[in-house]
Order: sequence, then structure tokens, then C-alpha cells
Amino acid sequence: MARILLGVSGGIAAYKSLEFARLAIKAGHVVRAVQTPDSVNFVGKASFEGITGAPVLTSQFERDPAGGAFPDQQRPDHDPISHLELAANCDVYVIAPATANTIAKLAYGMADNMVTALALSCRKPIVVAPAMNNDMYLNAATRDNIETLRSRGITVLDPGTGELASKGEYGIGRLPEPSDLLTATVRAIARGEVPFAPKSLDGLKMLVTAGGTREPIDSVRFVGNRSSGKMGFAVADAAAARGAEVTVVAANVSLARNADIDYIDVSTAAELESVVRAEFVKSDALVMAAAVADFRPADPEDGKIKKAGRTGMTVELVATSDVLSGLQDLREPGQVVVGFAAEAGEALLGEARRKLESKGLDMIVANDISEPSIGFESDDNEITLLVEGCEPEHPPRGTKSEIANVIVGRIESLVRTQGDSARV
Ligand code: CTP
Repeated sequence: MARILLGVSGGIAAYKSLEFARLAIKAGHVVRAVQTPDSVNFVGKASFEGITGAPVLTSQFERDPAGGAFPDQQRPDHDPISHLELAANCDVYVIAPATANTIAKLAYGMADNMVTALALSCRKPIVVAPAMNNDMYLNAATRDNIETLRSRGITVLDPGTGELASKGEYGIGRLPEPSDLLTATVRAIARGEVPFAPKSLDGLKMLVTAGGTREPIDSVRFVGNRSSGKMGFAVADAAAARGAEVTVVAANVSLARNADIDYIDVSTAAELESVVRAEFVKSDALVMAAAVADFRPADPEDGKIKKAGRTGMTVELVATSDVLSGLQDLREPGQVVVGFAAEAGEALLGEARRKLESKGLDMIVANDISEPSIGFESDDNEITLLVEGCEPEHPPRGTKSEIANVIVGRIESLVRTQGDSARV
């Protein structure tokens, strides 16, 4: 049994919402309806009141005789603010039909009537069922508004195509059938996605490096490494999913990109270093997952080196600078810096600990590159996390995105503790 709050806006399809309420109650749910003032031109309050067995409100200023309670609840002994109380008591808020006008108001966060005010204060799953004329639905303004609602975690159902409610109209814009609307409502409750919910890394600026640098020998050849960028990209995705504002410095990565993340492409260690130094000062956390070349050809040729007349070739390499070590002079209190250590076998933990200390890191993610089933191009990984002053943590092997979630979770607690000590 769920408490379904039904918001009805002014469209001809409002009559189908009556049927939705009837079906929902028959299936064991309890329903309260609210209406926009315009919607009563299509279906009056008395119809919804009759079917739901509860008062219907059309304005935030109207006194709710039920005090915001659903039919299965006790009326409170005071008069609460109706739109807050109904939002708190419901399990899901279904806006059906949602007109183009109501959708536009929802996208802009307006609260000018009971239906829109409820959407703004509701911290429960919200389902929006658009129903309107074909041209209004296909208008770029409506399309954009629907995208905005979806990006905020609201379930916007696709309307049906066929005969529309008004005489002679045909196209896309039909309200889904009441039984389909009920199925979508029950699914939304089960998914539990709450729109506008604050995320744990909201407001955090995270810089992530990914991939492997390429150091030119000539204009076609380079000294490179096998890093694919999968781990760094997965860390960036996991942080963005928790609300962080993420910038990725991508060194030669050809993986799909996330629209919520900014990417800056680089190729060499020197390019990566200069971008990281510029971005680091704007960041709260840095995750240095890129495999940065330790050496580069001393004197790369401008054109292509020809093989004719040569029996061999020696390329002189010179050391690049260590990006992480070089950041220590830029670092501000509260910034979290995480490195990666790719090591083979026995030496793994000892070497990772040495890098943690010598590079001044808060955490290092160590992985064993002698294990062929993990690391580099593979989709799986197994890591050990070393945090200054803590015992090593060894989460179970998993996909790179599962491992990325563990890493980001650990960074989240580091950000909290670092932030607290920076404020002291
Ligand atoms: N790193 C860096 N600049 C470099 C090389 C590495 O900032 N020139 C960073 C990597 O991005 C990683 C960490 O340092 O986060 C450790 O990299 P790794 O290659 O494991 O270690 P190295 O410092 O190169 O040391 P070694 O050659 O002994 O493995």
C-alpha cells in the first residue's frame, strides 16, 4: 500500500486521472488529489473528492479539512501547512496530466499553485505524465523543460501517440493509460529516486588525471605506456555521480565521455603537468590516476626519422619532473591528494608506502601489475588503499566502477576530516 498524491493540471486528459485514482484505490493504495485552478474547468473537485474520499485543494491558502492527512491517517490536532504536510505524508507524487504550462513551471521551480508548490517541497519520488497537443509537446521549450526535469531525477513518462483528447487531433501527447500510469508509479516508489536530493559530494571540486602520457621520439613515434584511462575515468564518473564538479585531465584516452564532466586533453607529461598545476589550485581534491612518463626523449626530431642507412638507433631519454611531488609547494590546507602506485608482486605495499610519504599524499591506491587479470586495459581491478597513519585496506576485487566507488567513498571521508582539521 502506498500513499499516492495526485496533482491534476488543466488538460482534457484530467478525466483519465479520475480513472487512475479509482484503479489505484482498487489496488489497495490511498490517494489524495490536488488540482490547479484551471483543471477544475475540466474535472471538478467533487469528482476527485468522491473517488478518493478526501478533500481536494487547489490553493496553498485553502484550509485542508483533513490537515494534510491521507484517508488512512489520523488528522493531526493542529492545522499544518497543507503543501508541506501532504508532501511529507505521501510516498510518491504523480502529476497527471501535466500540461506544458505546469511542466514549464516545474522546470523553473515556480510555486504559484498547490500542484507546483507541492513539487517544490516534495522529497519523495515524483512522476510527471505529460499530456497536451502534439505541437506543444514537440516544441523545443517543452522538450528542454522535460530534459531539465529528468536531469533532476524526476520520472517523466513518454506520452502515447494516437488520437488526442480534443476532437480531430492526432499525434504524440496522449496521457498514458491509467493502468500504465499506476505501473510506472509503483516502479518509481520501488526505485526511490528523490529529486533535488543533496548529494554527498555537492560543491566539491575534484581534479582527476587519467590515461598515459606519450613522449615524442619524432613526429610519428612516441614513448608511451599501456594505461587505458579506464580507472581514472571510472573514478571521475563515481565522483560526478555523488555530485562533485569534476575535471579530468585525459592523456590519450579514447573512452566514452560523461556529459557531466569537463575534460582537458593532453598528450605529454609536460602538458599534463602544466594543466594539473593550473587546475590544482582551483580544486579541493586531486586523484592522480594517470601513468605519467618518468623519461622522455631528450631531443625529439621535428619530422619522421628515416630508417635508410641506419643499422640501429639510440634514443637518449631524460627524466621528466614528478608532477605530484612538485605540487607540494602549491598545496593549501584541506586539499586532498591521492596517488596511484603500479607495482609488481612483493614490493607492492612497501613501494606504495614509500611513494605515499615521499610525494606527500593523503592516500595511495596500490595495484599489482604482475596480475594479468587486473589493471591496464582490463575491466576489473583489485587494489590496496594506503592512508597516512592507517592500516592498509583491501577491498574485494571488482569492476573498475565498483573499485572507483570504494576509492571515492574513502576520498569523501578524507575530505571531511581534512576539511575539519583545516577549519581548526
Ligand atoms: N606520477 C607523477 N609524475 C610522474 C610520475 C608519476 O605525478 N612523473 C604520479 C602518478 O600519477 C601516480 C604516482 O605518481 O599517482 C606514482 O606513480 P608510479 O609510476 O607508480 O611511480 P613513480 O613515481 O614513477 O616511481 P617508480 O618509477 O619507482 O615506480
